[in-house]
Amino acid sequence: MTGIVSPWRDRSEALRGLIRYHEERYYVYDDPEISDAEFDALLEELKALERAHPELVAPDSPTQRVGGRALEGFETAEHALPMLSLDNTYDERELRAFHERLRRALGAGESYTYVAELKIDGLSIALTYEDGRLARGVTRGDGVRGEVVTANVRTIRAVPLVLRDGARGRFEVRGEVYLPLSEFARVNEERAEAGEPLFANPRNAAAGTMRNLDPAMVATRRLGAFVYQAVKPLASANDPPVWRTHAETLEQLKAWGLPVEPHWRVCADFDELLDQCRAWSEQRHSLPFETDGVVIKVNELDARVRLGATSKFPRWATAFKFPAQQATTKLIRIDVNVGRTGAVTPVAVLEPVGLGGATVTFATLHNEEEIKRKDIRPGDMVLVERGGDVIPKIVKPIVSMRPAGAEGPKPYVFPAVCPSCESRLVRPDGEAVWRCPNASCPARLRRSLGHFASRRAMHMDGLGPSLIEKLTADGLVTNVADLYHLDLPTLTGLRFVAAVRRKVPPTGPDGEVTWEIRQEERRFGEKSAQSLLDQIERSKTVDFWRVVYALGIRHVGERGAQALAAAFPTMERLIHADLDALQSVVDVGPVVAAAVREFFDEPHNRQLVDRLRDAGVNMGSEAQAAASPATSRSLAGKTLVLTGTLTSMSRDEAAHAIARLGGKVVGSVSRKTTFVVAGEAPGSKLDKARELGITTLDEPAFLELIGGIEEEGSLR
Ligand code: IVH
Repeated sequence: MTGIVSPWRDRSEALRGLIRYHEERYYVYDDPEISDAEFDALLEELKALERAHPELVAPDSPTQRVGGRALEGFETAEHALPMLSLDNTYDERELRAFHERLRRALGAGESYTYVAELKIDGLSIALTYEDGRLARGVTRGDGVRGEVVTANVRTIRAVPLVLRDGARGRFEVRGEVYLPLSEFARVNEERAEAGEPLFANPRNAAAGTMRNLDPAMVATRRLGAFVYQAVKPLASANDPPVWRTHAETLEQLKAWGLPVEPHWRVCADFDELLDQCRAWSEQRHSLPFETDGVVIKVNELDARVRLGATSKFPRWATAFKFPAQQATTKLIRIDVNVGRTGAVTPVAVLEPVGLGGATVTFATLHNEEEIKRKDIRPGDMVLVERGGDVIPKIVKPIVSMRPAGAEGPKPYVFPAVCPSCESRLVRPDGEAVWRCPNASCPARLRRSLGHFASRRAMHMDGLGPSLIEKLTADGLVTNVADLYHLDLPTLTGLRFVAAVRRKVPPTGPDGEVTWEIRQEERRFGEKSAQSLLDQIERSKTVDFWRVVYALGIRHVGERGAQALAAAFPTMERLIHADLDALQSVVDVGPVVAAAVREFFDEPHNRQLVDRLRDAGVNMGSEAQAAASPATSRSLAGKTLVLTGTLTSMSRDEAAHAIARLGGKVVGSVSRKTTFVVAGEAPGSKLDKARELGITTLDEPAFLELIGGIEEEGSLR
């Protein structure tokens, strides 16, 4: 390749190395050396360099984690060796039986140790590395065949695209993909706001996410991953490491830059094993991810070989499952919360009860339907459970403890009016969620401000719930645009009540440390006030898509905002886009398109956008639009079907090119199909196309279609 200016190449290589180093510090060592903002700045610099010099983009660059294309479906692949499951033990007696069984099988003279690891509650994954490069990611499937989800795995920042030095040949590592609890809460919050069904637990959310056909969507979910097994420790004869123990394997995986969950321990005897299981049964909720047990594995690999496996699981390992964490308490009352889109969700207020090392006072109730279905009544004794969510849920009322007759608790009646502004609530047909329709409802305003200021929107860190409460209560801020008119004299000296979490020292005989939430009065000093103003000022320059996201349009999440901003690079264009134009954007369906129109058709919202523009907030730019290939959208609204094999590119690449130009690729031919692209050895889809009189394109014609348009790079 010619014409590469070497300083840029050097810098881009240096940046790639730095980014990988910091990803590893963060995900493998849990010990970051730089802030998120500094990390983002490195990534942004690399992105800008690669935009300016596309020839520098390497497939394993950290900027290339998101393939940006939606797949038609997953291929499947057979595992090199079946992915077995684990036997379970549910109490200490069963665990001891496991230990005795092993001792007998290995003979009295053999000394061996165990490794105790956390059992991550996610979905198992097999990653193949070839000469140190991530080549494939496959789900467990039925244990023999799984789905090839490489594009989705590449979006997981914990998974290195390139291993550190020394990893040669082809080998497979196995582990678990999971959704961190904070992400789980965020995703469900967004889904509740949008009136979408919630994920029951982080595992379902992770599994659902991994099976999503759009890697760009997967990337927004911030999955994590841990590896715990090397299936074929190097096929290459060049430098086969001779691992003697599982502990050495884990050390080697970590040294290659793979994420290994750091709490594993070698246990020399059964008592140490028991200590680990007991300790984690207590501490499991202190982790940022969901764990449902401790996995116990024989450490010595030669002993494992002698123990062997059944058809389902290895004899050298077992999972010690934690007991379910449940408690009984009184449901004092049911409150309702109002979200930024007006969604009104019920919350259970409980008599405080200890559960898994924390004091629980609230539980989620999802919606009116759930309360009715479970017949949960204020005043009931209820069974609460701490599952994957940070917030516990109510399993059921204890009906046998309900007083009979007139003194007994009455069925719950969902409020008819908004608790904040008293507007009559509405529930559109077919939806589970009641809504407050009043756009200026104070509760909605507070939530809108919170969303607008959040890290992933306009990123104003200093603007927390208590300050928002104060600013709105005093009438200093009546909409998001007002934030840009705050000044130092107004903010300095402002007094507001903040909720502070404090550790309470152990008091009772069991010595348990608890937390209490206390309301404390705070005074806004000049320094904090100035820092907030700086952040507000800085927010004016966030990417345009973040502004679109920050507006809080119903159903428009981060991914939707990115798609909209790519297709309509200025606010002016987005405001005037009609339904057809909106729907022709990849990733924007009829529901989102209608929500966008509804939002901008509302005069108040248009005024708000005008005020944000006047304040200097980034409203997008045409220049950026022209530079982005994603904005040559000449296939917008067109549907294409691919059949046969293309010689000049893979099916994925073809689909990608079509998607970039705004077209949709679908699996079967119908009257709505615009073109059928026929490669070599086309299938029955070509016959169907001819039958229906659909235009077919051979490979040269297809290349002209996409090539011509891409070269033009203009907006049509
Ligand atoms: S070892 C042959 N280690 O639990 C042994 N599994 O219930 C393979 N899991 O399918 C598994 N954390 O998906 C192992 N530290 C860990 C694990 C773990 C979670 C999952 C894994 C497995 C399932 C069995």
